[in-house]
Amino acid sequence: MPQGLRHGASRRILVIFLTGVLLLKTYWLWHGAWGDPIAAMPLIVRQARMWQDFHSLLEQHAPTGSPPLIILGAGAQRFNPLSDSVRQNYIYNAVDLLQPMQEAHDGFVKAIQAPIDPAYVPRTKGIVSAAGGTYLPTFVVSLRMLRRTGSTLPVELFLKDWGEYEPYICGIVLPALNAQCRVISAILVNQETEKGHAHKIEHYQIKSFAMLFSSFESFLWMDADCFPLHDPSILLNYKPFTSTGLVTWPDFWTNTMSPIYLNISRQPELPTSARQATEAGVILVSKRSHFHTLLLSAYYNFHGPSWYYMLLNQESPGTGDKDTYLQAATALGAKFYAVSEPVADLGNRAGDGGVQGAAMLQADPIQDYDLTSRGKWRVRDPSVAKAPRGFFIHATNPEFNPGKQLMGEKSKKTDGTPGRLWTADESALRRFGYDAEKAYWEEAKTVACTLEHNFVTWRDKSGICQGMQEHWGAIFEDPDAEAPIFTTGLFWS
Ligand SMILES: *[C@@H]1O[C@H](CO)[C@@H](O)[C@H](O)[C@H]1NC(C)=O
Repeated sequence: MPQGLRHGASRRILVIFLTGVLLLKTYWLWHGAWGDPIAAMPLIVRQARMWQDFHSLLEQHAPTGSPPLIILGAGAQRFNPLSDSVRQNYIYNAVDLLQPMQEAHDGFVKAIQAPIDPAYVPRTKGIVSAAGGTYLPTFVVSLRMLRRTGSTLPVELFLKDWGEYEPYICGIVLPALNAQCRVISAILVNQETEKGHAHKIEHYQIKSFAMLFSSFESFLWMDADCFPLHDPSILLNYKPFTSTGLVTWPDFWTNTMSPIYLNISRQPELPTSARQATEAGVILVSKRSHFHTLLLSAYYNFHGPSWYYMLLNQESPGTGDKDTYLQAATALGAKFYAVSEPVADLGNRAGDGGVQGAAMLQADPIQDYDLTSRGKWRVRDPSVAKAPRGFFIHATNPEFNPGKQLMGEKSKKTDGTPGRLWTADESALRRFGYDAEKAYWEEAKTVACTLEHNFVTWRDKSGICQGMQEHWGAIFEDPDAEAPIFTTGLFWS
């Protein structure tokens, strides 16, 4: 073989070899350990990138024209599963809204089909909540109730801005309970919009953005004043969550969205008897199947206060974000399971024989699904089966914040001495399985007496711990006090 040819061949081999090394090196640099350049970035970078892309879509497809105008709203209408009524429109300028809002909605739904990095950590599960200021003590009490069930799920707590960040609570107290503070304004860095103003995200709007920017793939959302009676991990591991990826719970009220919303979002008519409005204190979401649902729900919330809250609730009780999650799913044709077992009122017996509502009991979705998948709809006929066990309590009025109104009028008996808050309805109490009110008071007392001087909103108050100890003693250490019954007996299944 001539010397020159051999020399040429080995040079070629060397060039190919070096190119290969260079390509491999570039590949490793670019793709990192996981083989995907975006997945290899720190989560905070991915979230910031996601917000930049997503924020411009929210602004580009903002509704235009004049916002919905309501003169007389829907008010409180109880859900009736047995008879349909005409879906009422209360929006005065509905005809004018339709076309521009539909165009914007169509445009947004189309725009989110583009690849957007969902910015979560695959195969993770956890719990997401939001609280700040006077809600922070309530959240810590609820978190302790969660840990009492044996749950070890990590918790992410979203705060509106750094003004709500309490260093001692976020740095010391919460990490010990496997919970972390996240500041939403630090992720949603507002760029100047085209209109020259920055869009503020606050109140009800925070929730959908907290869900969107939590790091978990599957999560349970819990309001700060909600707690589970049992370890909630089971809910993320079984149907209906595993088969649908979105589970919501019902409100007392009927779904009062405007028929014009259904036109705007191109959905068929929905009978008023189909399901209740949502009580969004607890929700289960999988981002793997419902990332787009969360994007559309964020659109409804971003444009909520002047536009979509009106369309979705028409000034019924709790107008706000509550129906944005389920409606976003139905607008996109995504799967969902809406628990049908009615929410139950908890409180003391009122003068008229009813319950003076202080809290709400939400049912076990696994047991509810077990019944409805066999055609047993207790919501239409309660005699078809025994009620599912209670799974969550949403304690709204009063909240369990010992520095707020917890020891106020509602927790006093007619003679003015301290008393229980939840003594009715007896059938709902039997679905607890144990004395959850006593446990909740106990956690509130512990929080009052260990963190009395630590919450910012408790700083100007005094005697919170002592007040709780006295209140506790009067209710739970009185040997003559009668406790309600919390089980249905030995054969509870
Ligand atoms: C809205 O949709 C319904 C049925 O889906 C249809 O009957 C009705 O005409 C639509 N309304 C308008 C104003 O387009």
